Amino acid sequence: MTDYLEINRANWDERAAPHAASPGYQVQKFVDDPAYISDVVRFDLPRLGDVSGLRGVHLQCHIGTDTISLSRLGARMTGLDFSGASLEQARSLAARAGADIPFVQSDVYAAREVLDGEFGLVFTGIGAIGWLPDIRRWARTVASLLAPGGRLFIREGHPVLWSLDYDRTDGLLSITEPYFEQKEPQIWDEPGTYVESDHEFQHTVTHEWNHGLGEIVTAVLEAGLVLTGLEEHQSVPWEALPGRMHKLDTKEWQLTEKPERLPHTYTLQARKPV
Ligand SMILES: C[S@@+](CC[C@H](N)C(=O)[O-])C[C@H]1O[C@@H](n2cnc3c(N)ncnc32)[C@H](O)[C@@H]1O
Repeated sequence: MTDYLEINRANWDERAAPHAASPGYQVQKFVDDPAYISDVVRFDLPRLGDVSGLRGVHLQCHIGTDTISLSRLGARMTGLDFSGASLEQARSLAARAGADIPFVQSDVYAAREVLDGEFGLVFTGIGAIGWLPDIRRWARTVASLLAPGGRLFIREGHPVLWSLDYDRTDGLLSITEPYFEQKEPQIWDEPGTYVESDHEFQHTVTHEWNHGLGEIVTAVLEAGLVLTGLEEHQSVPWEALPGRMHKLDTKEWQLTEKPERLPHTYTLQARKPV
């Protein structure tokens, strides 16, 4: 295994402040409007159902915008992330937005050891599981956090989307990267980030893994959870294929030419049996 944790943490630590300052994350809206919730959680609302009163944990919470949104829907949230700089931003935003949320620094795989008690909701996604080498270990971690009857809610970039050639400009969709989970990571060296920023990044290398949809479902089932929903979507919250997507009224991005070719994201829900 590579030293992926150190490499990826350095990358995320450097992105936290520029992300909090970027128009993409809209952090000031959380401060100005006590009813504001993120576009990501707004999209989830019809599937999320009532979360009020649930004890929830947001795995890989980054700067806390979705964590605060869930707390505004009435869930008693905890945020977890391995990036100290992200959690600094999350704590500062929660304080300014009037949200009382503990944020815990940890690798996802150690979540069971660092968090007390069980949760009625494990929420994650939108660029989360691609940082983890082993989807089965992730699913076992999620299951260990859930109380009987508790549920997993994940909306995530689709593994088909992650497998595409991003530089292709002729309108064709072409699969050039692994769809299935590989032992070795894909190693990328990218100067920028996925939201607007003029910051000049020093930590540009990442180690990432794709996980096929069947692998994800199987991992969830093997961890003892019951699948309660699996829906593929024709939109994604960020401009995943730059220059080839347009923004919808939902503020999500969609492939401009024949979007029906591509599963952009999916929502998977599962429950721990009582
Ligand atoms: C794209 S963000 C996803 C968060 C959320 N969807 C958002 O956009 O705000 C990915 C987050 O995963 C965190 N992360 C990556 N690998 C991790 C790991 N092994 N354990 C815990 N957090 C990790 C990063 O620090 C980053 O905050």
